[in-house]
This record gives sequence, C-alpha cells and structure tokens, in this order.
Amino acid sequence: MKFENKFLWGGATAANQIEGGFLEDESGDSISDHLTQGSKTKVRKFTKTIDSNEYYPSHKGIDFYHDFPEDIKLLGKLGIRAFRLSIKWSRIFPNGDESEPNKKGLQYYDRIFDELHKYNIAPVVTLSHFDMPINLVSKYNGFANRIVVDLFVRYASTVIKYFKDKVKYWITFNEINFACLPTGNLEVLGVYNNATTDYTNPIDNQSLRYQALHNVFIASALTVKYAHSLNLGIMVGCMISHVTLYPLTSHPTDQTKTQEEDALFNNFCGDVQVKGEYPFYIKKYFDDNNIKISIFNRDKQILKEGTVDYYTFSYYMSNCVSHSKNNETTAGNLLGGVKNPYLKMSDWGWQIDPEGLYYTLFKIYDRYHLPIMISENGFGAQDVIKNGVIHDQYRIEYLKKHIYWMKKAINQGINVFSYMVWSPFDIVSSSTGEMDKRYGLIYTDMNSKGEGSLARIPKDSFYWYQSEIKKGLTSS
Ligand code: BG6
Repeated sequence: MKFENKFLWGGATAANQIEGGFLEDESGDSISDHLTQGSKTKVRKFTKTIDSNEYYPSHKGIDFYHDFPEDIKLLGKLGIRAFRLSIKWSRIFPNGDESEPNKKGLQYYDRIFDELHKYNIAPVVTLSHFDMPINLVSKYNGFANRIVVDLFVRYASTVIKYFKDKVKYWITFNEINFACLPTGNLEVLGVYNNATTDYTNPIDNQSLRYQALHNVFIASALTVKYAHSLNLGIMVGCMISHVTLYPLTSHPTDQTKTQEEDALFNNFCGDVQVKGEYPFYIKKYFDDNNIKISIFNRDKQILKEGTVDYYTFSYYMSNCVSHSKNNETTAGNLLGGVKNPYLKMSDWGWQIDPEGLYYTLFKIYDRYHLPIMISENGFGAQDVIKNGVIHDQYRIEYLKKHIYWMKKAINQGINVFSYMVWSPFDIVSSSTGEMDKRYGLIYTDMNSKGEGSLARIPKDSFYWYQSEIKKGLTSS
C-alpha cells in the first residue's frame, strides 16, 4: 500500500486543554476558564464568576504556555508532520469586542509557529475550539447575537492575515455539530441558558440555538471567503464530530430512525459548510419542531461563496439506534447511544469501532468528494506508570487498528491527506475536565487536581507511532 509522500501524520490538541497561562500577557478569560473540573461521575459546572473554592483545569492546562519549546522538541522527535492546535480568541481580543488586537497574544502564537517550523511540522490551526471571550457570552449571549459574527470575523481575519506566511491549514469551528444538541449551547455557540448550566435537565430554546448556529455558519463562510481573498493557497476546513450510527436491527424503523439521526447530527453542518446551502431535510425538521430562524437575503450568497476546501472530523466511536426502548446504552463526550453487541467500550463507555472508520470515510468521501483530514482519533484510558515507564499496549492496539482501516480506505481511492492522533500529550479531558482520562503518547505528570511535576514521559505508544510514521507511507 502506498501513500503520497506528503501525507500529514499528526497530533491534535486544543488551547483550553493544554495552554494554561491564565490571563497572562494581557489575555482575557474565556468560556473554558469558567468550567470546573468534573469526572466520570461528576458533571462539569459553568460558573459566571471565578469561584476560589473550585478548580478550573484550563487555568493551568498542562502548562504548554510556558513549556512549548520543550514540547515541540518532543513532537519533532516523534516525527509528526502536522500539529493541530487552537488559538485562544481571548488572547488576541481579550474582551472580544476591541478594535485592535493584543500584540502579546499574536507574538505568543508566532513563537509557537516558528518553533514548529524548526522541526518541519505544519501547524493546523482551529480558530474556535469550544472557546470564546467570556465578555461575549455575558454581553451579547454569544452567537445568538449577529454582532458576534462580525467580531469573530475580525478576530479570524486578524490572525489569518498575521500568520499568512506560517499557517496554511485552518479549521473554523471545532465539532460545530455539537450545536445540534442542547448540550452544545455553550461550547460551540457561546449561548448561556438552562440548557448549558444543567446538562441533566436542559431547558432549551431550539429556535435560538439554531439561529446561533446559523450565525456560526455565516461567520465560518465569511472567514473562508476572507482567507481565499488573500490568494495564497490557504486552505480552510470544517470540523464535524462524526459519531457513526448503525441501525441496531433490520427493523425498518431502526433504519429510518438511524437515517434521521445521522442527517441531523452527522450530516447537516457538513452539508451546509461543504455545499453552501441548507439541505432539504432540515427544512422539514425545523417545521416539525416549530423552529423559526431568520436568514437574511445576503446569507444565501455568503454560504455559497464560503464553502470549505477540505473536510475534517473527529472519530472515536460508533453507536446504534433502535426504535425500541430498554436497550443497553453507551456514553460519549456529549452524545450517547444504544450499545452494539459486537463492540467493546472504553472505561468511559465510548464504543471502540476501528472498522467503522473505514465505513465513515467511505460515506464522507462519497458525499462530498473533498480531501479529508481525520483531525482527531484516540483512546482515553487510565494509565499506570511503573518505574518511570508506561506500557500502553491498549492504546497502540486502538490506534493500530484505526490506521489499518484508514489505509484500507485510502487504498479504495478515498482522498485522506492527514491523520491526527488525539493527542500527543496527556491533556485535560474536554468532557470531564479531568486528567485521569489520558489520551497521550506522552505522559504528563499531573493529576486531576493539577498536582504533579508536569514532567513529560514518552509512553510505549510514542515509540510505536514514531516507527509507524517512519515506515507508514509504504507499509500496510
Ligand atoms: C473531542 C474534542 O470531542 O473529543 C476534544 O474536540 C476532546 O476537545 C476529545 O478532548 C476527547 O474528548 P474528552 O472529553 O475525552 O476529552
């Protein structure tokens, strides 16, 4: 099996999960800075003000803010060719609505990109990874307010222009389709209401949520248009959380229910961002659910002119869908489902399905015919460190099998140009805010309370991925 030489083996992260450096260099605070630490059994809380009795994991992250030269040196040793990170909007515009950017924020990311280039690693930059200056949440209710579209585009065009010679690959909104769930209000949209403060009992205003999502689509499309206007070959992608769905049985209602859920969660946002228009099925969904949003006349043209250049998605699991109740269930970062009797789950209830990656790549390429980046794939587990080493064979098995099925897909003629492990380092978990759920190829010596030396120790999976990258372009 042969890959093109330019295949981008990579690793992915997000600012709120690695950086720390809270309020440093005149940065503002953002949504993630107000999310408390949780666990497998304890839901994270959003607090409007910082409560000194709580621990907020993003304030420390894994201290990449200060440690990045050493961390990037390790990435160089790992041999990856691309590193996905996000820019924290509130480092550039601390309140989100200033007219001029914070120079120190720009300089910070500039140093990171220079460091990456030193090791021949291409940065892949997410503009919004579950993060927005907190002022935009409290003052405007996030993307529910159209003003925030302009503020986002000001931020996005500022950084794209500033880094135009150093960053070729951009992604607008991480896992934008979380906005199709009541639990995605805060993360993706910056909308604050009962649906975001009480995950177990969300009181959701669907019209407001889909209006905010529409505004995000516009912000994304205007960003793509801006990037293209520079005529530098900059590429901008979408990012979908693809939770692959199978009907539990051959019962016809299992098929139609799967089709409906797949359309709404996995396809809708990608359809808008790739095809530049709302798909037919969403109109019916809006009617059935009495969802009313206003779309300006010019919006249709903006969506058409701002379609993405490549498709990216995270892939961790698959779930089943059933017409009947009383099935065994699975978990997920925001979306659970019905258990598949043929698959195993991680300790966090995420169902492991390497072959599903092949199925998903086929489906996506068949639908969009765009180059694909797998922008997240990895295994969260509790690691044991003994005598300074971590034997994480379970993670190697997970990654090895997923890469095997990705290669099969490439062999079928599917244009996958990048694969990113989530994540090169152990970092703060997004859904639970803990450190016990580790994804890294490199161990971070820190516990869920933020205690530890922060030392980085390559695990067995680090050396495995290193050799996989070396031989990977030609081997099966
Ligand atoms: C994706 C997010 O949903 O999954 C990441 O883009 C996140 O930010 C990753 O970390 C894994 O989820 P978790 O909750 O286990 O950290």
